[in-house]
Parts: sequence; C-alpha cells; structure tokens
Amino acid sequence: MRVNSGFALASLLFLLLSSIETKKPGKGRGLRGARHKLTRDRIRGAGRHSRSGPTRLVSPACSESTESRDVFVDCQERHLNSIPPSQTWSKEPKHLLLARNRIKVLQDGAFFGYERLISLDLQQNQISLVEEGAFHGLKELTTLLLQHNHLGTLSEEALIPLPNLRYLRLYDNPWNCLCPLDSLIRTLQVPSNRNFGNHARCSVPIRLKGMKLKQVDPELLCKESDPTGHPEGDLRDMTEPLRPSPFRSKPDATTSCHTYLFPKIRMDCSKRGLTEVPAGIPEDVVHVDLSHNSIHHLKARDFQSTRSLRTLNLSNNNMERIDTASLSGLLHLRELDLSENSLHFVQYGVLEDLYFLSKLRLGGNPWVCDYSIHYMVYWLRLHPGVKHSGLLCRSPPEYTGETVEEYVHSYNRECPKDRQNSRTHQDQTDPELWNTPMEVQGELEEELEPSHLRLPQKYQIIRLS
Ligand SMILES: *[C@@H]1O[C@H](CO)[C@@H](O)[C@H](O)[C@H]1NC(C)=O
Repeated sequence: MRVNSGFALASLLFLLLSSIETKKPGKGRGLRGARHKLTRDRIRGAGRHSRSGPTRLVSPACSESTESRDVFVDCQERHLNSIPPSQTWSKEPKHLLLARNRIKVLQDGAFFGYERLISLDLQQNQISLVEEGAFHGLKELTTLLLQHNHLGTLSEEALIPLPNLRYLRLYDNPWNCLCPLDSLIRTLQVPSNRNFGNHARCSVPIRLKGMKLKQVDPELLCKESDPTGHPEGDLRDMTEPLRPSPFRSKPDATTSCHTYLFPKIRMDCSKRGLTEVPAGIPEDVVHVDLSHNSIHHLKARDFQSTRSLRTLNLSNNNMERIDTASLSGLLHLRELDLSENSLHFVQYGVLEDLYFLSKLRLGGNPWVCDYSIHYMVYWLRLHPGVKHSGLLCRSPPEYTGETVEEYVHSYNRECPKDRQNSRTHQDQTDPELWNTPMEVQGELEEELEPSHLRLPQKYQIIRLS
C-alpha cells in the first residue's frame, strides 16, 4: 500500500508538474499559500513534496466556482486516478465533483484537508476498494455518491466518520452479498437511514443476485460458506420480495440514468436505449436529459411525479406522439426540447400546463401544415413569452420550408369571413375541436368579464377552423 501510494503521489506530482509547463502559470488555482496549515500528521506524507519551495500545484484543469456562497470544485472527467490534494484549491470546497474519473482506491485519509465538504461525488469511477479511514474527517458531509463503481464490498466502519451523512448512493456496484457485507447491510436497513443505498443490489452469490441490499435478510449473508446449509431452502424465502411489481416493465430512472445532485439535481438519461420515459424520476429533479433514446410516444402521467422540472430534453427520439396529459403537471418547466423527432403536429391541450415555459425547440420535425398544426400556433400566440425555434412546414409540398406561422396566416387570409361565419356550424359538426377546456373557459370568461378587461385578440383564434 505504502509503496503504491508513494508511486501514485509521485505520478500525480509528475502530472501536475508537467501540466505547469503546458499551462499559463498563475491561473489562480495554485496553492494559495498556507491557508491549510499542513499538520505534522498529514496522512502518509502526502504533500511532503508540495509544501516546500515555490512550486505550485496546478490542478488538472478543474474548475472552482461559487454558487450561493458554496464553493464547488468540478473535476469531472479529468482522467484523475487519485484525489487532488485539498491545498490545490484557493478556497475550501464544500462540493467536490469527481465523477467520471479513473479512481480505483480510496485510501485512508484520502480527504484530508477537505473537512468542510458537504457533498462528494465519486460516481462513475472504478473504485473497488474503500479503506476504512478513507472518509476520515468529513464531519459535515451529507451526500456521498458512489454509484457506478466497482465496489464488491464496503465496511460499515468507513461510514463511521460521517455523522451527518444523509444520502448515500451505492447502486450499480457489483455487491458481494456475503459475510463481510453484513455490517453495511444492517446499517442500510436501519429505518432512519432511508436514503442509504437505495436500489443497490447483490451481484453475487447467485442465490442473492438481484436482491436489494435494503431487503436482503442479513442472517443469510454468511450462509453460503456454510457447507451444511441448504441454500435451496433459503432461496424459496428470498424470492418472495422479488415478485415482479406491476411497474417492473418500465425502466427505473434511478438505475438507468446518472444523477448529479449539485449544483442542481440533474438526471442524465441520454443514450440509454430507453423506449419509454423511465419511472421513478425523483420529485426534486430539476433537469432531465432524455435525448438520443427511442421514446416514440409520450404517455399521460409520464412526468407525473416531477414537479420541480425546469428543463426537459426529449430531442432525438423519433417521437411521433405526445398524449394530451403527458406534460401535465410541469408547471415550472422553462425549457422544452422536442427537436429532431418525428412529430407531425402537437395534439390539442398538450401544452396547457406549461405556464412558465420560455424556450421551446421544435426543429427537425416533419411538421405537417394542415389544420392539426393550428393549435401549436395559437398556443404560441397566446404565450408570447415563449421563444421557439424550428417550427417549419415539411409538408404538404406547397408549404415546405415555410414557417408554420406563415402557413396559418395565409390560411386565415384566404377567406377569413367565410370561416368565421361558419363557426356555428363547426360547433356542432366538430365536437372534438370545440368542446375543449380552453374553449369552454374562453366562453365563460367572455360572459363573466367586462369587455374592457378582455384581450381583444384572445379568442378570435379559436374561430378559425
Ligand atoms: C438536448 O440534447 C441535445 C442532444 O444531446 C443537445 O444538442 C441539446 O442542446 C439539448 N437541449 C437543451 C435545451 O439543452
């Protein structure tokens, strides 16, 4: 170990030093002097080299930023194979983002100097070993993300230095549900630890494969090594909670997507081969990226639980259909990307709940300029705050390349009188068109509101047919 860590340090230092050559010096991320007084017991002598002389440790192009007075250090996807020393940063970080690197081991004292950390994101590394003292000193840490790593086991001891831990993500690790995992599993199952290790599942032994760590009976963990045991008998009991739930067929968002908690809760579900919107997108997620999947059809209540959603990216899905109630409830949505799909029109009512939408991307769809597209244009007229792009007719040939607004405009110009006069007739012959909440509401308001309060153009649009 000692040899390894010395080697790792040396290579890190080498990397750091060589990056000085290639970067402009004094980029502001270097050692801001002796802010952290390095204590004598600096673990394993890390920094032994770094503190002396004028040498500055230049971070591997990580970025430091401050948001709502919290200092973030973002070292995601920087090819790191160890934790950058804390003194690299100009301020003590509260959030350390190390996702998508190549870290394999978290050694004792790995986070020395990071005592103010509140969140630590280590997802999507190759961590297979967490030494018992790895998180030593992280007294303020509330969030620890270890999902998508190579952990087979983790000692409960490793969590003891974390008195404030509230969120612990462990899923998509090949958990080895045998004796050594006993203490961790018992910890996860303490009722007050309800955000610990959800969705994490055993990958070995075979008889427990697929079981959630939260649900495995800890008594069974040590059994396999007991040659007199009857694993078949255990298996019977164990399969009980595995009974497929009614929603089993739907992919689960937490396991199919990558979740990032800071600075805003974001789910990256891009390029996951999804054929439908995954279930269980947590309520507090703010950004969801579902682009580059194969979601052909948005169904009612697909986003039922996601009340906080601000941006939703559904681009590049070959989507053909959006059911009326599929976007209902997205009252706070600001940005919706429907570009690069196979939409011909958007059904009446689909957009009605999007009160705060300000950006709508529609490009790359084969919009058909016939009557069914009118709703889209009316809705946009009623919501002038919405910036939209890409609303171009692809067919019929006479309108190809025109904007849909131009088409609707020319449609109205052709013989607006006739169309408006025929309204009474239309009312009766086309109930689908007129018996809509918007129309009913329009008429109600027309009756109730004094005329000077009415927006003159507001309902005129509905008379076109
Ligand atoms: C949605 O995803 C696509 C493809 O990944 C990307 O090009 C686009 O910018 C995203 N849209 C928004 C609004 O972020």
